[in-house]
Amino acid sequence: MKTAVYSGSFDPFTNGHLDIVTRASALFDQVIVAVLHNPSKRPLFSVDERMQLIAAATQGLGNVSVDSFQGLLVDYLRQQRASVIVRGLRGVSDLEGELHMAQMNQAMYPAAETVFLATSPALSYISSSLVKDVASHGGNVAGFVPAAVCRAVQAKFASRQ
Ligand SMILES: Nc1ncnc2c1ncn2[C@@H]1O[C@H](COP(=O)(O)OP(=O)(O)O)[C@@H](O)[C@H]1O
Ligand SMILES: [Mg+2]
Repeated sequence: MKTAVYSGSFDPFTNGHLDIVTRASALFDQVIVAVLHNPSKRPLFSVDERMQLIAAATQGLGNVSVDSFQGLLVDYLRQQRASVIVRGLRGVSDLEGELHMAQMNQAMYPAAETVFLATSPALSYISSSLVKDVASHGGNVAGFVPAAVCRAVQAKFASRQ
């Protein structure tokens, strides 16, 4: 049983993230989308809100589950008996940070491998931060995020005004 963990902030989950999960679900027996609870960041969505939105977007994928974690990803992998970390690479700007993170994780937990999936070109410009930026100025983000995320982002900014 090969269990992979796709970790990230997912604030919010985008069509780019969904593409990576969908493709990972075809490669591994089980994929856990793990939302990092990072107390030093001030996210738009709470961890619970992010988990609910990811669950709604991935409900058609039978071997995908949603969870959250705090602390070191390698400790979470050990706890879940997972041996693969999935990350998406949008372009060279992602590479250096992702490579160092993969190498650090390998040094700490050699039993796990990081697998990078190349982002689909049509989705490579999508990022959670741009989605928030566009939505905060009243732009329509329907083309960049799953439908439930689109509604939630709009509601968030409407309630802030
Ligand atoms: N548009 C996209 N297409 C594919 N992968 C993406 C896209 N945006 C982000 N990712 C990948 O999803 C993962 C989680 O990203 P993100 O939510 O920004 O969390 P983190 O804070 O860990 O970078 C990362 O591996 C990132 O490269
Ligand atoms: Mg990121």
